[in-house]
Amino acid sequence: MSRLTAQNQEVAAEIISRYPRAKSALIPLLHLAQEQDGYVADDAMEHLAELVGVTPAEVLGTCSFYEMFVRHPVGKYKIDICTNISCQLVGGEELLHHAEETLGIRAGGTTDDGLFTIEDVECIAACTEGPCLQVNYRYEYRLSNSDFDNMIEGLRDGSRDDVPPHGTLGLTRQHIPQDHLAGIGSPETTPMPAWFESRQPEPEAEGA
Ligand code: FES
Repeated sequence: MSRLTAQNQEVAAEIISRYPRAKSALIPLLHLAQEQDGYVADDAMEHLAELVGVTPAEVLGTCSFYEMFVRHPVGKYKIDICTNISCQLVGGEELLHHAEETLGIRAGGTTDDGLFTIEDVECIAACTEGPCLQVNYRYEYRLSNSDFDNMIEGLRDGSRDDVPPHGTLGLTRQHIPQDHLAGIGSPETTPMPAWFESRQPEPEAEGA
């Protein structure tokens, strides 16, 4: 419905400036539009087309290719419940039916208060943790029906403040401080993530 706000146009300009060709910035710009409205509106796609110098059809082509972009309004919390084989075997479909009954909507629907949308989705890459779901792309693992109910209650009453509104991504945009840039590419100054460190082989003892 809406074009980018003045503030987001500034952010868009910053994003575009990082790429040798403006249209290469399309994916992060689509995230920006989705973060603004909770979905990617038609007007937003037209606006992005103007900003990067392509046709609206090209923006739509990119946007519609990726599952993570939604082109219609959804609830504040979009709950994607996996019913693929691994989750199905441990109750994924039953969890979906419970969610539908609890919220009074079918998969693909949104509650009247605009809070929740449920989707029946394919594998979300957490097959050992089923039945699982994502709420606004944040994982919830091994859910029983009562776990689901507690999650809904927490989202409703605000006690689950770890889940931001749909469209908000953790790493949509990087604002890298200049003093951090100096260390990039240097193993001495750029610490490795803990998971990577933990997988490094022990150095062999001398003479072994
Ligand atoms: S089958 Fe459900 S996460 Fe893979």
